[in-house]
Amino acid sequence: MAHHISAWTSLVQPDEGHGSFSSLVGSMDRASTVVFPDVKSMRERDWRSKTQYSYGLLGTPTTRRLENKLALIDGVKHALLLPSGLASISLIFLALLKSGERVLLPRNAYQPGADLARMLAGRFGIEVDFYDPLQPETVPFTDNTRLLWVETPGSVTMEVADLRQLSELAHARHVLVAADATWSAGIAHNVFALGADIAMQALTKYQSGGSDVMMGSVSTDDDALHEQLLKTHMQLGLGVSPEDCQLVLRSLPHYRLRYLAQDIAARKLAEWLSSQPGITRVLHPALPGCPGHAVWQRDFTAAASLFSVLFEPEVPQANIDRFVEALALFHIGYSWGGAVSLAIPYDVRDRYPQSGGLVRFYVGLEDVDDLIADVEQALAQTINL
Ligand SMILES: Cc1ncc(COP(=O)(O)O)c(C=O)c1O
Repeated sequence: MAHHISAWTSLVQPDEGHGSFSSLVGSMDRASTVVFPDVKSMRERDWRSKTQYSYGLLGTPTTRRLENKLALIDGVKHALLLPSGLASISLIFLALLKSGERVLLPRNAYQPGADLARMLAGRFGIEVDFYDPLQPETVPFTDNTRLLWVETPGSVTMEVADLRQLSELAHARHVLVAADATWSAGIAHNVFALGADIAMQALTKYQSGGSDVMMGSVSTDDDALHEQLLKTHMQLGLGVSPEDCQLVLRSLPHYRLRYLAQDIAARKLAEWLSSQPGITRVLHPALPGCPGHAVWQRDFTAAASLFSVLFEPEVPQANIDRFVEALALFHIGYSWGGAVSLAIPYDVRDRYPQSGGLVRFYVGLEDVDDLIADVEQALAQTINL
């Protein structure tokens, strides 16, 4: 091609056909056993090579196609697939940490990931400590710190951390930086340009887009880190199903458009919520009331359609629970990234003692004016009595 094309254009280019059969989508290749034409080729086959195949667990053309597209989006050389976002977190911990080494996590990290770190600390001699993501200069680095985990914005309470500053502080101490980039989804935040050595994402969200697949990824530009991750990936047996990959491959060409359209809708709802009685604060990174908003403005180009609101402290939790149940278009459920809007109450009074209860909203693909009308009727019935 004569001129440079963007990653988003490359993403939708058809693969090479096979003989006279050529279509716009790749075939779906399943395998446990991969057969070799002779013993010599069996012995010579390199399991680490992304262009060779030796066993179903280590990849088929379908899983590799998805890995290549994810690496392309992240602008890095390597991506691996995992059976969930949480499995991506566990791969990074298990590949990079050994007993006596320390991992530092933000206090607002995705809780199951933090629980895993605590389990490793309790049973395998890995040390874990937590830091305030809004105070990079207070991160408790020690001589045995190996890994700094960054998740920005943080889960549920949405504080936007300064990945660039955190990475500089970590690298000055030879500490690796891993980013949970699920919220920014490879679209809104260039985590590698800002210093991350490794990024993981829950593809379960926007990349799947259908609320029907669990999958995760781990990507890096560093060959040695990739090799370490790949080896542990193989040792742990973390293969993914080609069917699931095919579902994600089908959604991938339009996930950026969905993300950007849902961003516009979510900001409209979030702004509308900012002026509603009963609500003290809207925690949406693109709105000024969100801690770390200035960092979002500087480093992000868009926002996910996932944000939270804090209610007045006087509003009883029972009313907040009834509010969530009174919503007709928002359903009650974990995860996000699909077509259907979701709402879920969380208790974060340990993090925001002054405030009341919190509800996290995920804006799907409905008409946003219908969503606003739905929230309005639910507020009127349960909060603004
Ligand atoms: C920020 C973040 N990281 C990781 C995960 C884990 O992803 P999965 O549900 O695919 O295990 C989630 C899921 O909610 C998440 O929100």
